[in-house]
Amino acid sequence: MVKRDPSTLSALDFKALISPTSPAKFFKTHWGRRHLTAKLAPRFRAALAAELCIDDIEKLFSHSKKTMAWFESLEGDYHSMDVPSARNALDLYMAGMTLYLADMATPLIMEWHQRLAAEIGHSGQRITFSVFAARRSGRTRCHYDNLENFTIQLRGSKTWKLAPNRFLPVPLHNWVTGMPPNSEQLRYARGTLPKTIPSMHKKVVLEPGDVLYIPRGYLHEVDASEDSISLFVAFQCHPWASFVTDRLFAHFVQDERWRENAVAEWKGSYQQDGAQARLAILLKQFKEVVAKLKVSDLIDD
Ligand SMILES: [Fe+2]
Repeated sequence: MVKRDPSTLSALDFKALISPTSPAKFFKTHWGRRHLTAKLAPRFRAALAAELCIDDIEKLFSHSKKTMAWFESLEGDYHSMDVPSARNALDLYMAGMTLYLADMATPLIMEWHQRLAAEIGHSGQRITFSVFAARRSGRTRCHYDNLENFTIQLRGSKTWKLAPNRFLPVPLHNWVTGMPPNSEQLRYARGTLPKTIPSMHKKVVLEPGDVLYIPRGYLHEVDASEDSISLFVAFQCHPWASFVTDRLFAHFVQDERWRENAVAEWKGSYQQDGAQARLAILLKQFKEVVAKLKVSDLIDD
């Protein structure tokens, strides 16, 4: 078994993850736009493999704060279940199930987590480190996720089919083919969602040490031709709409009129006149505040 290598893992920075592409080029060309394949230096791959104990599956499973088993029913539907212990996870893995190990929390991974958040200016609370442990023949149907994410292949190989999402760019929710999108997604969908991965997809085979970045919403389908272990670094979305309205919320709730209960179903109700008058006052105040807002008012020191 390979020994832990703290000094190497402490040197793993964002540049090493996307090499040979530079961070400036990555954020201009790829982040949120198009996928990228990169190669992690062998010493970093070995250090990650040792830190996560991929040679000792039960130990690997013990690093996860929450483990889930994913499986497909005879009808072709996907299901997941929480797995209470690393021992149970090992039994399910041996029986052929794909395990999703959420929130990997070794000391060096937690250090890297903080470093990565600072390097790319993303909230550390919205970054997650997980592991997919898939048995050979494990596959996922065409879907998209609402996460910017990197897959670092640590063992085995996986074949990805990728296609940009022209139907519903920058989604706020996940979606898998065969399931209806939720009502919010339908409001901003452009046309009909596909039933399978589009024929113009790109095929990428990940081998140990390979890194794949895919933007939020990218359509993808994944097949494990052999037992596979990959580290999944995901960046949860935080849309500008939330960024701005969260700050406006913090401002307005200082005024008690904004803290009163909104009359949601006011048409035809006893409260209709009062609600309309109150809303007119609040809206006037809202416009006055927003008209004076500067970028610096919305950015924390
Ligand atoms: Fe996915």
